[in-house]
Amino acid sequence: MEDVADSWHVTHGMLVLGIESSCDETAAAVVRAGGEVLSSAVHTQIALHAPHGGVVPEIASRSHLRMIAPVIRKAVADAGCSFGDLGAVAVTYGPGLASSLLVGLSAAKGLAAALSVPLIGIDHVAAHIQSAFLAPGSPRKRDSLPLLALVVSGGHSAIIRLGADGKARILGQTLDDAAGEAFDKASKLLGLGYPGGPAIQKAASAAHGPLGFTFPQGRISAGNPGLGGLNADLCFSFSGLKTSLRTYLSANPNPDEERICRIASAYQDAIVEALASRCARALRSDRYKAFAVGGGVSLNAALRARLREVADAAGVPLYLPEPKYCGDNAAMVAALAGEGEGISGDAAMRLDATPGLTIES
Ligand code: KG4
Ligand code: ZN
Repeated sequence: MEDVADSWHVTHGMLVLGIESSCDETAAAVVRAGGEVLSSAVHTQIALHAPHGGVVPEIASRSHLRMIAPVIRKAVADAGCSFGDLGAVAVTYGPGLASSLLVGLSAAKGLAAALSVPLIGIDHVAAHIQSAFLAPGSPRKRDSLPLLALVVSGGHSAIIRLGADGKARILGQTLDDAAGEAFDKASKLLGLGYPGGPAIQKAASAAHGPLGFTFPQGRISAGNPGLGGLNADLCFSFSGLKTSLRTYLSANPNPDEERICRIASAYQDAIVEALASRCARALRSDRYKAFAVGGGVSLNAALRARLREVADAAGVPLYLPEPKYCGDNAAMVAALAGEGEGISGDAAMRLDATPGLTIES
């Protein structure tokens, strides 16, 4: 049988449908390849997972199954086009939760086959980097290489170099918890609810003074066996931070509201400084044309302000996603495919959900 997908590629101006279901957001979007975002539909499962204090994979995949078709239909309708106008279907195939990824990937394969258009497999972390370039009038990512990227979310925390050829190399990453996880766990300990990032940020902004205690920034020693060849100075660890909060709370139990706000502020400072200092070091150690940030934690106002200082000191432009594109969305997935990136052709139809996918592969 002739494989039509093998001979078809995404071309400039083509309408690309993006599908994203790697964690707890069911998302679809239509993007004009190399151009603007026409629609971006996101169904978040936050309310379903909140009672559990974190994402429950079984609940996530069931919700994706229920929502994937209506979310895709909404994205196509909001874009003012019809399924017949779509030129390609792009989908996240990893990293993420296996049973969640499978829902989006299966839907995308079925749609691409039914519409006889190419399927493009997209790496979720690479898509988060693309989210910084979605704003109207923002430069093309390809004109900003070599690029330093910080991707910080509930599942990932990594500093990545995109070389002049666009190839990704991880320079540093967390050796344990992701930055978003560190926010979520602290929020749980402080009784501030889920998701923790926005709750900690809100509490921190209501603090009237310093806590008088500094949380550790999780420095890694060069001999750490978890480094796997990465530079210790560009890696971070957030599990000690959470332990340090637990220890602080057992020594200083029942904090009143003002103290909770001060704790949240000091805790947020530790995460922001851990991320900012590594990025500053990475920017100093090589030549970069730009610095881009993505992922749910890039919504954090203190982090955005601090990274602006870091970029200014390094003399490189900083690209931050608009708030609606910080968390998981499908516009970033479709846009990356629209740049000609991702796995295409016959290989895409054979893709399996890949929970441990790395941006270097
Ligand atoms: O990118 P995302 O929506 O999903 C993943 O791929 O994980 O990121 C979700 C994470 C959560 O851990 C959440 O607490 C964190 O992003 N987050 C924030 C803020 N808003 C969301 N962290 C810090 N400050 C925020 N304002
Ligand atoms: Zn994400």
